Amino acid sequence: MNRRTALRLIGAGVAVGAGTAGLPWLAAEGQPGRVLASRLPLPRPYQRPLPVPPTRTGSAIRLTQRVAVVEILPGVQTEIYGYDGTFPGPTVVSRSGQPLTVRHRNELPVPTVTHLHGGHTPPDSDGFPTDLLLPVGGGATGTGHHPDPAAVVRTGERDHTYPLAQRAATLWYHDHAMDRTGPNVWRGLAGFHLVHDDEEDALPLPKGDRDLPLLIADRSFAADGSLLHRAHGDREPGVLGDVITVNGVAWPYHEVAATRHRLRLLNASNARQYRLALDPPGGGLVQVGSDGGLLAAPVRHDSIDIAPAERFDVVVDFGRYSPGQRVDLVNRLGDGGTARVMRFVVGSRAADDSTVPARLSTVEPLPTPKRTRAFRMGSLDGVWTINGAGFDPVRPVAMPALGATEIWRFTADVHHPVHLHLGHFQVVGRGDRGPGPYDAGWKDTVNVRPGETVSVAVRFTASRGRSVIHCHNLEHEDMAMMAMFAVI
Ligand code: C2O
Ligand code: CU
Ligand code: CU
Repeated sequence: MNRRTALRLIGAGVAVGAGTAGLPWLAAEGQPGRVLASRLPLPRPYQRPLPVPPTRTGSAIRLTQRVAVVEILPGVQTEIYGYDGTFPGPTVVSRSGQPLTVRHRNELPVPTVTHLHGGHTPPDSDGFPTDLLLPVGGGATGTGHHPDPAAVVRTGERDHTYPLAQRAATLWYHDHAMDRTGPNVWRGLAGFHLVHDDEEDALPLPKGDRDLPLLIADRSFAADGSLLHRAHGDREPGVLGDVITVNGVAWPYHEVAATRHRLRLLNASNARQYRLALDPPGGGLVQVGSDGGLLAAPVRHDSIDIAPAERFDVVVDFGRYSPGQRVDLVNRLGDGGTARVMRFVVGSRAADDSTVPARLSTVEPLPTPKRTRAFRMGSLDGVWTINGAGFDPVRPVAMPALGATEIWRFTADVHHPVHLHLGHFQVVGRGDRGPGPYDAGWKDTVNVRPGETVSVAVRFTASRGRSVIHCHNLEHEDMAMMAMFAVI
């Protein structure tokens, strides 16, 4: 069944009973997807230094989305779609409470939508998937299978206004165009957006070049060096690459002073999940922040499970290693090349006045809500569904009141990292237990594992209007695993 037929069936209200039978790729632990093998020889790891994207500040920023040629694999030219022609895009640095306007210009050959992931952004600037920005000079297309009379389609340039009335956090921006988010992000449309505030500035955490954003993404390459992706097939499980990139370079290395460093880990992969650890382990990964900023208190991990779109801010004390030592960031869910991420080469000892305080911030639990809504993440033949239906940009699946707190309960057939726009939430339970080891603090994406139920408490305070909830496995999202909700 093709997608059009499947959507027609959904439209006709066909009952859903798809289980996980006959989904052989479930066999790979933690990997909801199928590897796309590169068709050129892959390099030895740790040959090239880690790039750190340039930062952009100010109250008005311009970004041009364009085609560029970059070197992701050593000596191989790869064409990308990039914000200002780079992958990752420039790191936008903003200040809590200070509004920011970003003017995007689309010089790509495809329509795009830019979303600030984790931003508490009103609907007109959030990046609703049908609010397309068509390429300069016009050309292709409407909203395809998803007719949306409310969509605001523009051509060439548009402004996004971000109030940023939110706490310090590691956010990211990426493409969100209806039906093409997977290929657009795979080609390079992703970058960091760091929000700072006074509370965080006052903490003695590592700063400056000891505060490193690390955008982790897997990719695959065609024989000519171009990026390889897979067209959407029926119930596409997710595209996995066999090359792990960090900040746009395959398996980089980074020289660090033998001091504490803050690593802002972002899983910007389309579908791949990682279990990140240090080898040798040293003092482990001390988590200080999650998707929505600082935790109340640090949490020490031997390894961290990170699903697509999740962020973990961790402090690593390289002072525990000897100068000259190599410390690898590894992926315990990978094998061969995908078990490696990057290497740190520990340099000489240096002054270090940073510490990780026992108290970081205040995370007040949300009041116990009265209302619970259930969202079943599943599938129907060719498409991925929420509560049995594929994406409909017009019909809301929920209409929470502005400021109300609700429990949203997600169940999953296979791995689905569930993401909500507009606000952050707190995980209150997994199955009949409390939150898991990676659920602390304010989150905007939560990994729901096969057969699991995850409950989150959420309060929508940012603004009224329509927004989306979706799976952040981008191939699932593009195959309709998204739903519109409206804050009223
Ligand atoms: Cu990171 Cu709706 O997206
Ligand atoms: Cu988002
Ligand atoms: Cu999914």
